[in-house]
Amino acid sequence: MQVALGVTGGIAAYKSAELLRRLQDRGFEVQVIMTDAARQFVTPLTFAALSGRKVITGLFDEAAGEANLASVIEHTAVAQNMDALVIAPATADIIAKMAAGIADDFLTTLYLAARAPTIVAPAMNVNMWEHPATQHNLQILRDRGVHVIEPEEGYLACGMIGAGRLAAVETIAQTVFETLSQRSDLEGETVLVTAGRTEEPLDPCRFLSNRSSGKMGYALAEAARRRGARVTLISGRSSVDPPPGMVVERVRTALEMMEAVNKHFHEVTIFLMAAAVADFRPMRIAPAKLKRNSGALALRLEPTADILGEVARRRKPRQLLVGFAAETENVVSNASAKLRAKQLDLMVANDVTQPGAGFEVDTNIVTLLFADGRQIPLQKMGKLDVAHRILDAVAQLRSKLGAEKTLAIHVSTEPAEGSGQLR
Ligand code: CTP
Repeated sequence: MQVALGVTGGIAAYKSAELLRRLQDRGFEVQVIMTDAARQFVTPLTFAALSGRKVITGLFDEAAGEANLASVIEHTAVAQNMDALVIAPATADIIAKMAAGIADDFLTTLYLAARAPTIVAPAMNVNMWEHPATQHNLQILRDRGVHVIEPEEGYLACGMIGAGRLAAVETIAQTVFETLSQRSDLEGETVLVTAGRTEEPLDPCRFLSNRSSGKMGYALAEAARRRGARVTLISGRSSVDPPPGMVVERVRTALEMMEAVNKHFHEVTIFLMAAAVADFRPMRIAPAKLKRNSGALALRLEPTADILGEVARRRKPRQLLVGFAAETENVVSNASAKLRAKQLDLMVANDVTQPGAGFEVDTNIVTLLFADGRQIPLQKMGKLDVAHRILDAVAQLRSKLGAEKTLAIHVSTEPAEGSGQLR
């Protein structure tokens, strides 16, 4: 597997040489790309010697003195061959360019041409890190599926103390490794995951929502991507950053979530509806803030549309549908009833009153309920592990569906009675 390592101009650029080594230790081939500013801190020769490859320093072949075709199309060749793009250290400047889509050197052009997961490890002065412009740009990247490895706090090269020191080289190497170690049993699948909570506004300042953190849905999206699927994540509000390597669409209300799901559903082969959608919304949104001194307030609520139930009615035979039921009593019977009512292939039921299950925590305790009546209770485990167990079940259902299809083809190609010919 090949990793493209982008080195930009910061004091921490010297640490990228160590990162290169740690990536090689994990079996990756590394192609280094340096920006002009990076070359003020470390020479390309260091990276060329360690990687055993030419270091890419510009869009044009400087040795030739002019642009030549090979060097001009090199960014697309690197983009096609690489399995991940890692930028460490990433300056505020490169982060801003990536957010804006500026492509004025090799690295920024490569980022735009790339379809592989992108991991960014920022390093900069604490004030630059905390500046709203930098934080805004990072949020844009996160929403686009870029994995941002937060810098550490400590003594910075500028003499200040605070956040901005490049994350430990080992952490960055391990993140790359985990991002790329995947089973490929979902290759060819187009997976749509909904996650997080919706918010239903009451007035410009207030809304109705719930306690879902989005962690379970994000873990599912991450696990599906690692197993080779093309993933789209539709996310309501959540407390965690979306995983890298997928398209992320942000929504706020149940209605917006329904519109986003409807937009993607026709192209989806596996639909995992993990979002905690509001079941009710205020019938009227007050145009101005509701005032306490206006006395008692009665809220009139109307039900939202059942997104999963509605798409299930127009599903195609190859589409697999998975629902989630967070229950507080009669968990299995309530969840089974929903599985049947919404005509799902799989329902993931959990009792949110149990410690270590449900909202905000990093673990979950679920029971998998299948359309054929099978039930598989799982032990308490981390949400990423739960996600993989759910996808194991989905992959099994998919291969069963494939086998049934093959059987159907066999049956229809039996010789017609007396004809001796294939129909
Ligand atoms: N769901 C949905 N649209 C809604 C509400 C829920 O698509 N408006 C989905 C959830 O994402 C979940 C499944 O339906 O995958 C079950 O959600 P749940 O809230 O447990 O069930 P409801 O059908 O809303 O029934 P109730 O809340 O009355 O128990």
